[in-house]
Amino acid sequence: MKLTTKLLAATAIVGAGAAHATDLEVMHWWTSGGEANAVSKLAEAWDATGNKWIDGAIAGGGDTARPIMVSRIIGGDPPAAFQFNHGRQAEELIQAGLLMDLTDVAEANHWKDIVNPPSLLDACTVDGKVYCAPINIHSWQWMWLSDAAYAKAGVPVPTNWEEFAATAPALQAAGITPLAMGGQSWQQNGAFGVMALALAGQDAWLKVNKDKDATVVMGPEYTKVFEAFGAAREFSAGLNVQDWNQATAAVIDGTAGAQIMGDWAQGEFAMAGKVAGTDYECLPGLGDAAILDTGGDAFYFPVNSDPAITAAQKELAALLLSPAVQVSFNSAKGSLPIRGDVDLTTVNECTQKGLDLLAAGKVVPAGTELLSPDTVTQLNDLMTEFWSTPTMTPAEVQKQYADIIASAT
Ligand code: BGC
Repeated sequence: MKLTTKLLAATAIVGAGAAHATDLEVMHWWTSGGEANAVSKLAEAWDATGNKWIDGAIAGGGDTARPIMVSRIIGGDPPAAFQFNHGRQAEELIQAGLLMDLTDVAEANHWKDIVNPPSLLDACTVDGKVYCAPINIHSWQWMWLSDAAYAKAGVPVPTNWEEFAATAPALQAAGITPLAMGGQSWQQNGAFGVMALALAGQDAWLKVNKDKDATVVMGPEYTKVFEAFGAAREFSAGLNVQDWNQATAAVIDGTAGAQIMGDWAQGEFAMAGKVAGTDYECLPGLGDAAILDTGGDAFYFPVNSDPAITAAQKELAALLLSPAVQVSFNSAKGSLPIRGDVDLTTVNECTQKGLDLLAAGKVVPAGTELLSPDTVTQLNDLMTEFWSTPTMTPAEVQKQYADIIASAT
């Protein structure tokens, strides 16, 4: 073959893949083993279009990553796309006009008809315009338990919070930390939120988080929760870890009995080759009130003056909701797809429990949809202070929690 013919053939192949191959930098905080595996599915799908995924992973969790992303955006050096939890975290960036309006992509791809539950698209919508591409449903409302740890302690694996608390001394006697808790404030406040929904019930939880009713924080249902949270602090003594996935690793290797953490923990069990129902168990709503919050992740796209990049951003937004990407990403991530018309081919029993709750409508909005980032930060700070200050009583933290809710918007 002559050189020119070879070149023409190569051009044709490249051309078929991507008329305008574009590099897009995508920022996110998915750095644990399971998370990195899941994000690689997105990168592979994007690269397969002939474009290129430039990975902008930030270690240290969402609280570390989000300010870095915001400073890149307001500093005039935005990534092409970034992960946030859908809901109120992007409110200020949208108001400042820094994020792209994706309404045309949403309409062309019928997101209104496919996104389920509709609250996920609502959480991306401001003044009738769509600003994000929701990619998954993640719920916080889970406890993960180690079969090996309970076998070693000689007690059955608990099926609810009360059994968990009653068997905690048997684990401690066997040298096992009953509750694995990482050191970052979002983990402690997140676990409290799970306990509140499970132990105080949906009505009380919604009155606090949605209606911002501080009298409910001071009432009898929440009093129970603050006391249980005090007990949880005792149950976590002896295991000093920082990151959420280090706490999950302690459950995986049986040095801890359980962890209260969102369903992204499943990605870690999967990477370690652990099987739900054999090596580990899962209790939605701590086994007391099986309700999921429908939080999760969404991608936002900063405004860009380069039309080629703008077109590629829109192409990526559409791709993220495509059936194939929904299946490959969510299967690896431990999350549920945002569209009801795809099958996660083989789901384990924990994911199946989540899908059943979703189908039965046993859901509440996520805290990130109901509370402003400022309120969440105040609650994070308070709950971590309580966690690391053994002399601080449940009654003290309850009062301060009520004050924050009273002034929340
Ligand atoms: C995100 C998850 C992520 C988790 C831990 C959550 O805010 O929604 O996708 O796995 O943080 O990094």
